[in-house]
Amino acid sequence: SHDAEPFLPEDPQLRTDLEALRQASAGCQGCPLHENATQTVFGEGSPDAAVVLVGEQPGDQEDRQGAPFVGPAGRLLDRALEEAGIERGDVYVTNAVKHFKFKYQGKRRIHENPNSGEMRACRPWLLAELRSLDPDVVVTLGATAGKALLGSTFRVTKQRGELLPLPDLELLGTPKAKTNVEEKKRSGAQLLATIHPSAVLRSDNRDEMYAGLVDDLRKVAGALG
Ligand code: URA
Ligand code: SF4
Repeated sequence: SHDAEPFLPEDPQLRTDLEALRQASAGCQGCPLHENATQTVFGEGSPDAAVVLVGEQPGDQEDRQGAPFVGPAGRLLDRALEEAGIERGDVYVTNAVKHFKFKYQGKRRIHENPNSGEMRACRPWLLAELRSLDPDVVVTLGATAGKALLGSTFRVTKQRGELLPLPDLELLGTPKAKTNVEEKKRSGAQLLATIHPSAVLRSDNRDEMYAGLVDDLRKVAGALG
């Protein structure tokens, strides 16, 4: 089945080196999504970031520019972060899936949801980013990112806006890692799930949705102290 794992650096030290991971991710063929997309869109931001924001997958603009959250959803996210008192310079932004999945509608490229196999395949990159960054708070934006870290039963509507303990990243990894329970790191990091900024853009209840996003992000700012 599809898996990014063979494309990660072999050297254990390079597996927690963000630049080495970024370079390796450029050549990932762990699932079919690399075939039609322009490029891998790896995460971006401060390597010392206390907050890591996880989206779903790059959009049309992100695919062209090779950077996460640079299109309309990114602009809305920037505004919401600023309003919540979190500087974009203090965060690292990435996605649960690193290639843009789309279909053509005429000349327009329309976003398609990644399926569970693609989400699973791409997860080693996200887990490696989180291990390297070791942030205080991970914010999942929308259902896909929530599922990537909290499992397939995750529901945004039920679990949003609550600071939860970040699940053990080793336990989220390969089944083999599950046997090494005693080696797991207790980082004390937290996770907060919220809505996706694109959901705000699509909503006919934009103001309320946006205010809810900002409220959730304020909780993140509060958790940083
Ligand atoms: N939506 C996402 O989930 N991620 C991006 O990078 C852009 C839009
Ligand atoms: Fe690799 Fe992820 Fe791209 Fe699939 S979506 S090819 S797993 S980087």
